[in-house]
Amino acid sequence: MTAADSLATPMTAVDPSLTGPAPAPITLFGASTPSGQALIGLAGDRPLTVAGRRPPPCPTANGEPLPFLRCDLDDHGVPVQTPAGRLLSFAPIWSFAPWLARWASQEPESFADLQGVVACSSSSVITKRFAANRFDRDLVRRLRQAQDLLTSTCTAHRVPLRILAPTLIYGQAGPLGDRNLSQLRSLLRRLPLLPLPDRGGLRQPIHCRQLAAVALHLADRLSAGGPDPSEPVLLPLGGDDTLSYAAMLQRLQGATVPGDPARRCRLVALPPRLFQLLATPLLLLSPKGFEAVQRIGSDLAGFTPAHSILGGAPEAFPVHPLVP
Ligand SMILES: NC(=O)c1ccc[n+]([C@@H]2O[C@H](COP(=O)([O-])OP(=O)(O)OC[C@H]3O[C@@H](n4cnc5c(N)ncnc54)[C@H](OP(=O)(O)O)[C@@H]3O)[C@@H](O)[C@H]2O)c1
Repeated sequence: MTAADSLATPMTAVDPSLTGPAPAPITLFGASTPSGQALIGLAGDRPLTVAGRRPPPCPTANGEPLPFLRCDLDDHGVPVQTPAGRLLSFAPIWSFAPWLARWASQEPESFADLQGVVACSSSSVITKRFAANRFDRDLVRRLRQAQDLLTSTCTAHRVPLRILAPTLIYGQAGPLGDRNLSQLRSLLRRLPLLPLPDRGGLRQPIHCRQLAAVALHLADRLSAGGPDPSEPVLLPLGGDDTLSYAAMLQRLQGATVPGDPARRCRLVALPPRLFQLLATPLLLLSPKGFEAVQRIGSDLAGFTPAHSILGGAPEAFPVHPLVP
């Protein structure tokens, strides 16, 4: 049985609204991200509190105002206690993990009452682990240290934990949109042509709504009966479609309205060696930029597809809504 098989349960089987007892409260960090906004939209009748440094732009669900808990994860004072129940975080894991560890050490009894924690890390912890530049190596180190801290804190207090490591999050939810594929589309709108390697470069982008649905599903499972010990704590996660970098850009072009300038940009397929040769001058100007361009030809896919956890049909890329 694969990790995805063991995690997959039809949504109806765990939807608390259908199974009787009132759903345990959820406290959401990172509500002011597209994924956080999507989660607010999907939460249904689950009692939800949003926590962060400032209220999110859309502080309502189903027309009802959401309780807001002011909390700076980087504030080293006494950790703010959240309502008992479940914690879900789309905030940077290197801020969330030490905050949780401080709470566990200062208030172990209230901490142990938590029914589950679902936190977002990044697939960069896998895909950038052999990076040559210092910036990416530091990123991997910070992600890994935070994941380890989160795991040891929750294990010590028997709090069920899942860490999501999503790749390439895109899409719009409420007033918020991604800043990666939408920026690529802006580039397509400005350039007459864009060279790309003609082979490789697989990607598995995940829409913020899919990520939010998986996070909510896992949070429900954790509090429904505790975690299955055979399930891995870390879940590398992607969208349902795996496609080459060039195909991803073509689909983005196809998703724009007729006449959009992004459609005019010609994608020029080059043999990988020629593509790399053209990128060489960047090595002197920005080693990080050079590696980013090199990575265009790398296969960054093979993650668990969202639909295999949610139990529905696969969704083709791009899932809508996109950033307008
Ligand atoms: N963007 C991607 O493609 C990508 C890819 C893989 C993984 N991820 C992960 O997915 C999650 C969402 O990513 P993102 O790029 O949309 O958002 P992000 O920039 O990583 O995180 C921003 C969110 O974290 C909250 N936050 C930051 N510092 C905080 C603090 N000290 N105290 C309380 N809240 C704090 C912010 O809330 P306020 O500023 O409102 O307080 C905001 O809601 C993150 O965990 C990220 O690491 C992102």
